[in-house]
Amino acid sequence: MCGIIAYIGDKYCKDIIINGLKRLEYRGYDSAGIAILMPDNENNGNSPQNRIAIVKQAGKIKDLEESMKDMDFDSHTGIGHTRWATHGAPTQVNAHPHADCTGKIAVVHNGIIENYAEIKEELLQKGHKFISETDTEVLSHLLEEYNNDGDLLASMQKLIRKIKGSGAIVALSADFPDEIVGARLASPLILGIGKDGNFLASDIPAVLEHTRNFMIINDFETIRIKKDKVEIFDMDGNPVQRDPFKVNWSITSAEKSGYEDFMQKEIFEQPFGIKETMRGRLVDGELQFEELDITEEQIRNLNKIQIIACGTSSHAALLGKQLIERWARIPVEVEVSSEYRYKNPIVEKNCLFIAITQSGETIDTLAAIREAKSRGAKIVAITNVVGSTVARESDSVIYTHAGPEIGVCATKTFTAQIIVMYLMALYFGKVTGNLNEDEYKKIVKEIELIPDKIQTILNDAVKIKKIADHLYKYRTFLFLGRIFGLPVALEGALKLKEISYIHAEGYAGGEMKHGPIALTDTNTTVVGIIPKDFVYEKMLSNIEEVKARHATIFAIATEGDSEIQKYSNYVFYIPQSIEELYGILTIIPLQLFSYYIAI
Ligand code: BG6
Repeated sequence: MCGIIAYIGDKYCKDIIINGLKRLEYRGYDSAGIAILMPDNENNGNSPQNRIAIVKQAGKIKDLEESMKDMDFDSHTGIGHTRWATHGAPTQVNAHPHADCTGKIAVVHNGIIENYAEIKEELLQKGHKFISETDTEVLSHLLEEYNNDGDLLASMQKLIRKIKGSGAIVALSADFPDEIVGARLASPLILGIGKDGNFLASDIPAVLEHTRNFMIINDFETIRIKKDKVEIFDMDGNPVQRDPFKVNWSITSAEKSGYEDFMQKEIFEQPFGIKETMRGRLVDGELQFEELDITEEQIRNLNKIQIIACGTSSHAALLGKQLIERWARIPVEVEVSSEYRYKNPIVEKNCLFIAITQSGETIDTLAAIREAKSRGAKIVAITNVVGSTVARESDSVIYTHAGPEIGVCATKTFTAQIIVMYLMALYFGKVTGNLNEDEYKKIVKEIELIPDKIQTILNDAVKIKKIADHLYKYRTFLFLGRIFGLPVALEGALKLKEISYIHAEGYAGGEMKHGPIALTDTNTTVVGIIPKDFVYEKMLSNIEEVKARHATIFAIATEGDSEIQKYSNYVFYIPQSIEELYGILTIIPLQLFSYYIAI
């Protein structure tokens, strides 16, 4: 995830900003940059010709430092940024800060500007010139455009009303050397109040070595900081009074936002990752999928979809298969990447080839793509990493915007992949005419509710912890699910073995009786994924089979289902939804369960 730090005060800003960026490295990034206000100290009474110096680099912060080492930055005002690419490859040109046409304004930004294409078009018509592929660059040009009013803060207030999407935005202008302004729209931004100056940052660790006094900025608020003054304004430009709060965390615990570790943090970040992944793709109930780069006609002519992936990504693929086949009635084949290239694969005409990979670097997936390409396939990649090898070698890319995953176990990238699968299946369903308008609207409405429903589940994490406290000594876990529950069962078992080293298997509920049932006894815990869907009754009979063999039963069930308690030793309830969406809701308690068992 991108990181921001800004400082204005009595001290020299360069080292404060560089060290702040290093403190943000844990968030993951692919490029970094800094903009510093260079005051005109020799103007001899003429109007000062301040300027902004921008230095940026693809790669590590040490590369940025290296490129700055012989430069003289005698300045007290600057902004810095670590970028995690979302629009445009991780290159020097695309790195932040971004300047306007005059070079007098510099902007850094975290988030996604949904309407950047239309804003860019308007600005192009007014003569603005753009040099990067980013959405962010429109912000510096918008400020330039609005700057005629002679008030940087007022320009920022106008800007925040113009953009749609998410953004923590910070700007510096050579014409306003005594201030830095910022704004927040759905991306975190904090204000740090120091003795020798003031700070804006995306996260507390960036400035914790300088101050422990902070204020949180809320959505649609704008901020102006000077070396000895901070001001916050509401949406209408009225001043907001807010008392600072004191942070007592160590820098290490602040990096994890108070969570114990990155896996826990990333599990809890899922509502945000999902919203970011939906952003710009589901707008006012309409799906926008230009990035797929295939025509509606081509979709209607598809004979088959082939999906390849590894590990957790392959479970997202299996869920995608169920959805596409159900909503669009297009046959889907899922193959693990490591098998695909050795089987002399057939690439059929009118077959869409999709590769799912969180990292975009998994060698088996890359090799499978190359194999398919050499046989004439057109590749669509779904990945979380802009500019990754898979992204570069594919014909088109759909990025999940979950932010970088630092924990070893895939969690937030998995649910972001599933969201892409939901949206894609829905889009295909609409284009092929298999879903009517009412069905389509009903599904869209439910998809939009997913982040809040996941938040409800996360709010109940302590209930899962209590169940894990009872079950952690078991050495065999069987995860059972059917249809949409099957990929969830496979993923639940994978998470448990990956993080706790306990033997766990995922199985189709109906397949239990064909062998694996021999493993179940008093030493086995069976985790049943049993939401109220069209295979609910079937799952109940499967659970009865294992209960008869004295296994302990932990059921993931739908809120309001009291019947399930007769069958289970432990139950965790998820909120109600439509049956197709239970996949994404049921995996959350299983991620938490694996996590707490491992702890
Ligand atoms: C494995 C990881 O090595 O790669 C899994 O342990 C992951 O957690 C799998 O799901 C696939 O990774 P990717 O980046 O291709 O989705």
